[in-house]
Amino acid sequence: MAGRILVAYATKHGSTAGVAEAVARELAAAGLEAAGAEFPAVDSLEGYDGVVLGAPIYAGKPLDLADFVARHREALGRLPVAAFAVGITPVGAAPKPERIEQARKALIDAVEPLRPVAAALFAGALDPSKMGLAERAVTRLIGSPTGDFRDWDAIAAWAREVAPRFAGTEE
Ligand SMILES: Cc1cc2nc3c(=O)[nH]c(=O)nc-3n(C[C@H](O)[C@H](O)[C@H](O)COP(=O)(O)O)c2cc1C
Repeated sequence: MAGRILVAYATKHGSTAGVAEAVARELAAAGLEAAGAEFPAVDSLEGYDGVVLGAPIYAGKPLDLADFVARHREALGRLPVAAFAVGITPVGAAPKPERIEQARKALIDAVEPLRPVAAALFAGALDPSKMGLAERAVTRLIGSPTGDFRDWDAIAAWAREVAPRFAGTEE
């Protein structure tokens, strides 16, 4: 029987929604019944056999993720959960290892006390035309690169790796 998997995500400017859709597509290609939904649209996790949680990192923290986990903690505690964060940290020729480590830790901290079966940090997208003045000022100040850095091959590869963990054929 194919497992029903929810890919629940937060997004402010849409790039994480694109990553979540790509993950759902790949899980479906692997034989699972996968659907994406933004956090506010998720009332209940009843009927799901697993959940992928995704959130963009803003100011060091995955957006709305800890709140979502707190709200659905009981149900999430009974299901296999995978998690991904999207951010600008992994972008560039030589991303700083300590920054990557910080971002990964922020993801793991946000899903506490859950123990995800897999966790990933993906490069995101920064589009100044979608940002407000304050966001543009912040990203200019810290010298963030702008553009779409989402690595669709890496995202699909991760989803393919995660799929069997939901199907229960792998630890
Ligand atoms: C104001 C602002 C703050 C951000 N802070 C971080 C950060 O602390 N770490 C990081 O890796 N990326 C950071 N980013 C990059 C976003 O995570 C990235 O653009 C992501 O793709 C946005 O996802 P969304 O389009 O789904 O909202 C920041 C972006 C903005 C605009």
